[in-house]
Amino acid sequence: MSTGIDRNQLTQLMNEDLASEYRSIVQYNQHVATLKGLEVQSLLAELKQHLGQELSHAMILAEQIDFLGGVPTVEVPSIPSVTDTQGALKLDLDLEEQQLERYRQRIEQAQELGLPDVAEALRPLLEQTQEHVRDLRTALGR
Ligand SMILES: [Fe+2]
Ligand SMILES: [Fe+2]
Repeated sequence: MSTGIDRNQLTQLMNEDLASEYRSIVQYNQHVATLKGLEVQSLLAELKQHLGQELSHAMILAEQIDFLGGVPTVEVPSIPSVTDTQGALKLDLDLEEQQLERYRQRIEQAQELGLPDVAEALRPLLEQTQEHVRDLRTALGR
């Protein structure tokens, strides 16, 4: 089934993906600095790793958006400030699940538009987002 979007629409959607990655960076940065307690010690190491990977996701998206002739956004979405452990992890999981769905669609759309290089560049974002979802589900006991 065709998703029926053109190259400009793909670029626009990737800019929304980029804004979502900026949100991840800001959100994880707050959570890594504020979550406390023995039970979150090993989790903090994972969240720090996520944070670093979100920066690389943002960099890859910006590069691909430029490659497609777009201008990478500098808009950061507004982000709820949540610092209790359960609330923070749920917020992180929700965001990662949204991103997972977005990257599934984006890779399919890039392929349909005959842009295999773009699809390939986005593949690690999909795979790492899957890992992030798994880590957070485990942490939340889901
Ligand atoms: Fe990401
Ligand atoms: Fe992530």
